[in-house]
Amino acid sequence: MSILVTGGAGFIGSNFVLDWLADPATGGETVVNLDALTYAGNLSNLATLQGDARHVFVHGDIGDRALVGQLLAGHRPRAIVHFAAESHVDRSILGPGAFIKTNVEGTFALLEAARAHWSALEGEERAAFRFLHVSTDEVYGSLAPGAPAFTENHPYEPNSPYSASKAASDHLVRAWHHTYGLPVLTTNCSNNYGPYHFPEKLIPLMIVNALAGKPLPVYGDGMQVRDWLYVGDHCSAIRAVLARGRVGQTYNVGGWNEKPNIEIVTAICSLLDELRPSPAGPYARLVTHVKDRPGHDRRYAIDARKIERELGWRPAETFETGIRRTVRWYLDHADWVAEVQSGGYRDWVAANYGRR
Ligand code: NAD
Ligand code: TYD
Repeated sequence: MSILVTGGAGFIGSNFVLDWLADPATGGETVVNLDALTYAGNLSNLATLQGDARHVFVHGDIGDRALVGQLLAGHRPRAIVHFAAESHVDRSILGPGAFIKTNVEGTFALLEAARAHWSALEGEERAAFRFLHVSTDEVYGSLAPGAPAFTENHPYEPNSPYSASKAASDHLVRAWHHTYGLPVLTTNCSNNYGPYHFPEKLIPLMIVNALAGKPLPVYGDGMQVRDWLYVGDHCSAIRAVLARGRVGQTYNVGGWNEKPNIEIVTAICSLLDELRPSPAGPYARLVTHVKDRPGHDRRYAIDARKIERELGWRPAETFETGIRRTVRWYLDHADWVAEVQSGGYRDWVAANYGRR
């Protein structure tokens, strides 16, 4: 048996592949990993799987319908777990085209390839097939302070090119189920953090900048709220939804852990003060408030009661345990950080922060 994972060389995808193969319940099944290796995809995340026949890496684009068709026909996976996307809001503001191409058109192409494949299946194989679409809480838009957290029935009100492109992909997935009967599942998860997180996103950026003695750029007043979830918990939620989720349903996944950005940044500074004190003084001295993100969503919060009630899933990590593990991981993997901070990464830092 096998599964096809898209975007399995990215942050969450690579954690998912590693966890899948390490878990005795799933590790007997091959993972076919289709990834275009954009700036966010990194095969060194999967270096420990070198020579492991259970991991088949395919360098290619989800929009290449012929390639996806060949993979489905050749491997006959029992499921597609779809992570591949452009995922960074700031990049979507500076260049939305790639987000429409991959997140909307790419998901469309993948759905069509999946539909053609699934339509030709029979019996048990057809009944068991699943298309699991990994999405975000950002599709629901921004919450007012004190407003109830997002449930699965919250209206879609995406505000950034990124969240609009993910919302579009969610709607396509829903329609392919409703119209064609494709057996889909969708997860909408809050902000993840953990190992292999590309240092353009808040938490890894703050860790690597602090260690380099660089400014810690906090957008606006830093009081924007996110609901942070350790990546391993997101991966276990996806495994639960794939195993036991009801076809056609969506499941919100979150950490029950709302925090303003400034608290996240100061928590990272305190951990670094403890684990790698700087002779120059406390890391919080580097906090620098910079120009806010245009259209910045003020608050996200996930109501994760449905997945707990139906599938018995709850996060295993608290923020305190998860952020400590994460900071330690970055301290122990300076080589990984140096590798991803390529020329392309430096260009991004100049483009995004140069004008703030
Ligand atoms: P990421 O940017 O780290 O990784 C994306 C991966 O997809 C990379 O390996 C990249 O090479 C690959 N990819 C991009 N375009 C592709 C294409 N056209 N064909 C094949 N592969 C392609 O993203 P991530 O943070 O790991 O997010 C994974 C998924 O989870 C995304 O769909 C994202 O919307 C969703 N999500 C992310 C978060 C979060 O906090 N990071 C939260 C909720 C949901
Ligand atoms: P990010 O990690 O980009 O995730 P998202 O925008 O998908 O929630 O950002 C998390 C929060 O941190 C968001 O409110 C924007 C803020 N932020 C900063 O204050 N400074 C930064 O340099 C970055 C990258 C993000």
